[in-house]
Amino acid sequence: MSSDRNISVIPLAKAGFVDGGNYETYRPGYTDDVVKEIILMATDSVDLLDGECEYDILELGAGTGKFTECLLKHCPQGMKVLVTEPSNDFIKTLEEKIPVVETRQCSANKIPLPDNSVKAIIAAQCFHWFANEENISEIVRVLKPGGNFVLVWNVLDESSLLNADFQKFILKWIKDSPQYYDMRWKQFLDNCDQVRLVSRKLFDGNDLSGSIDHLVRLRTTFSYIQSLEEVQKEEACAEIKAFYENHPERKGKEFLTHPMKTDVLHYKIS
Ligand SMILES: C[S@@+](CC[C@H](N)C(=O)[O-])C[C@H]1O[C@@H](n2cnc3c(N)ncnc32)[C@H](O)[C@@H]1O
Repeated sequence: MSSDRNISVIPLAKAGFVDGGNYETYRPGYTDDVVKEIILMATDSVDLLDGECEYDILELGAGTGKFTECLLKHCPQGMKVLVTEPSNDFIKTLEEKIPVVETRQCSANKIPLPDNSVKAIIAAQCFHWFANEENISEIVRVLKPGGNFVLVWNVLDESSLLNADFQKFILKWIKDSPQYYDMRWKQFLDNCDQVRLVSRKLFDGNDLSGSIDHLVRLRTTFSYIQSLEEVQKEEACAEIKAFYENHPERKGKEFLTHPMKTDVLHYKIS
């Protein structure tokens, strides 16, 4: 377990990822198709003659292990996997859930590994938190030549009316916080000469279905709600509940569904 010296995250991430149990209960996992495809990308044409690597796959920002458990279910036997996560509470939840996996507590800017020591790095639902020069240089440093960098996000399917309305409604809490949807991470990568995009694929995801109370609880796992003071959080939850209750798609139904997609991007170091 490393000390705070290895952890540097923005204040919203520090305040927003503090309840691993809540996150673990409400956030979605990843479909088998997505995970199998990501493993193919992660193992794509790595220069195997370039000596042994300490790890085949390094997962950054692993949170409570939502992606990790899917990865371990599908990755070939014998593959060496290391997962990292900066939040105390999240890594504790992950270690209790998946005691077999090797973990390190760190942020993406200080990966406790030598140069050229991993074949692939995966970042699930998190690269928007650390899309900057310092972190990409660290990612490139630990990847071996020809190494793969795979990004994945579960995202709202834009073709759904409920999703489109929800996206507009929730903006007042999101403000300027880093999001997949703001695409700042993509602009950063498009202008970054350390990596190049190999492919991008949009898959069907795990739809988010549940009672209104369930969907409100799910929203409390997002940093922009989790980080609010208790009174503001309660007010936000009441407003989110009212949004669902009054949305035309509800039509008296007890359960609502946010249709989901999964966006997967495969990069290689240049
Ligand atoms: C939305 S969660 C995703 C967790 C998990 N990968 C999943 O698929 O559910 C975002 C994660 O990014 C982590 N994170 C935030 N800033 C980070 C940084 N600078 N370096 C590494 N991880 C970071 C958070 O602690 C959090 O666990």
